[in-house]
Amino acid sequence: MCGIVGYIGNKQAYPILINGLKRLEYRGYDSAGVALRTNQTKVFKCKGKVQDLENHVKGNDVSGTIGIGHTRWATHGEPNDENAHPHSSMNNKFVIIHNGIIENYSLLKEKLTKRGYTFQSDTDTEVLANLIEYIYLKGEVSAEIAVRLALTKVVGAYGLVVICEDEPDKLIAARKGSPLVVGVGNGEYFLASDATPIIEYTNSVIYLNDNDVAIISRDELVLKTIQNDKLTPHIQQLDLDIEQIEKGGYDHFMLKEIFEQTSSIHDTIRGRISTTNKEVFLGGINDVIPQLVNARRILIIGCGTSWHAGMVGEYLFEEFARIPVEVEYASEFRYRNPVIFKDDIVLAISQSGETADTLAAIKLAKEAGATVIGICNVVGSSIPRETHAGVYTHAGPEIGVASTKAFTAQVTVLTMMAMLVGYRKGTLAKDLYEELIAEIANLPKKIMRILDKADDIKELSKKYMNSTNALYLGRGFLFPVALEGALKLKEISYIHAEGYPAAEMKHGPIALIDEQMPVFVVATKDKSYDKIVSNIQEVKARKGHVIAIVTEGDTVISKMANHVIEIPETLEALAPLLTVIPFQLLSYYIAVYRECNVDQPRNLAKSVTVE
Ligand code: F6R
Repeated sequence: MCGIVGYIGNKQAYPILINGLKRLEYRGYDSAGVALRTNQTKVFKCKGKVQDLENHVKGNDVSGTIGIGHTRWATHGEPNDENAHPHSSMNNKFVIIHNGIIENYSLLKEKLTKRGYTFQSDTDTEVLANLIEYIYLKGEVSAEIAVRLALTKVVGAYGLVVICEDEPDKLIAARKGSPLVVGVGNGEYFLASDATPIIEYTNSVIYLNDNDVAIISRDELVLKTIQNDKLTPHIQQLDLDIEQIEKGGYDHFMLKEIFEQTSSIHDTIRGRISTTNKEVFLGGINDVIPQLVNARRILIIGCGTSWHAGMVGEYLFEEFARIPVEVEYASEFRYRNPVIFKDDIVLAISQSGETADTLAAIKLAKEAGATVIGICNVVGSSIPRETHAGVYTHAGPEIGVASTKAFTAQVTVLTMMAMLVGYRKGTLAKDLYEELIAEIANLPKKIMRILDKADDIKELSKKYMNSTNALYLGRGFLFPVALEGALKLKEISYIHAEGYPAAEMKHGPIALIDEQMPVFVVATKDKSYDKIVSNIQEVKARKGHVIAIVTEGDTVISKMANHVIEIPETLEALAPLLTVIPFQLLSYYIAVYRECNVDQPRNLAKSVTVE
């Protein structure tokens, strides 16, 4: 949510900043801006995408070897030129880019207004710029001290970078609650809110921790806390390469990521599933397996698609390990005084590892004494650093705003976890455990067979591109898939869609069904098959259009439904991993036919670092 880049070195900063902003645009794309430092600081910013910024800047002098850039997802103030970052302080002593929310900004603004400050924008960031400047001028202190002192007065979250007019050869960066990564080059440093803009220049990075302040010149990085305690920077090597964050010939990141699921699931299970030894091994949770085996209860927390993965996790843990599970929206959990026991296991699921509500829920669970296990995709992000143990999903960078391969990777991890715990506990029979292991290893090939049908699914999508509503139905393990299918459709094609447990349809949503209403049903062969066949009949009786995902060779539903998409047969508990893929493709192609911006849907951002 909001992308930050910074550069200090001997190269021209502008191309590095623009390139970086394009890589970060998935985090927010309401407006964009850069500040470049030569003998003075020049700020260019405007409403719109990074491309609009480039057009806006055309013809101007963009030289400078120090600079900062920002792409925004609006929190305070509508997306317009004034509210775009960077923001300058009133006397132009400071220029700042900021990700996060300053919660006490109105109080600070009031105080600054009384001291003669005026404001050009509606943002909390401009308040912070002026607060730093006020302290700097009033206290006659250095820029670094002014930044640190200002941050002690701030309530909220920030990842920020500051340039001071009087100390031009320096960037000052700070983090609390919003991620910041520093790339370490030769006589140069890069800054970004995640590593994607950095990897084409260097693999050496420093992840800032909460309350860290970095004072960066061309040849030195000094790291300290806001309270001025000196810290030793810990340089890590990134395990990421440039191909992973490029489109590689696909029209959109989303399509690339859907197609990557053959290899991403492979990466998720690599070294964790052994078909030879017939075992599951999850090193990241090895130490907490006894707690999991003896758990009286598991709480699963997440948001959006990660919450849907958590719902599949509920079915899996209850089925295999016979442990009661509650799945919670992180945002609800953190604010409703939840009952948390010391022996609870909390599973926190997040692709980005930065979602503010999930992070806050983790902190709450830890305070209550629970053991918290993370399931995250982005290595080194905040959630894995907050949790007691965890399993990375290793799906590779997910750039498309709509989550696809992260979902299947999360469900794969949850499946392996539930199997491992169930087997150790004795509630999952050896035969089924081994059958599941063999079948998980087969999934990439089966996913490939579904992806081979992409052209047919594209053709089918055309029929539904003008729908205004859609219903998604599933039962058991496949109910969360219905929820996920509906979310995918609404978020990228702006068609209203709802997911329901199929049997719930007759308790209300059935009233919506008429000949205009596509009803997407997940109806593979499992123990609820006959029931879902009846649900399909109920839809057909009301002239609804049924598009069913069925098991290969199904002859019953293919006679009733308007269209069927066949998927290879698999074990019931693994069906979410296959059935979700046609839904991802359908949403993708419908959005493309509707000429929607698939990778950057309106109003959304990839990583929601504000609550
Ligand atoms: C939907 C989507 C969002 C995220 C949600 C949680 O396609 O991407 O609903 O799933 O914002 O994000 P993470 O998993 O990063 O915590």
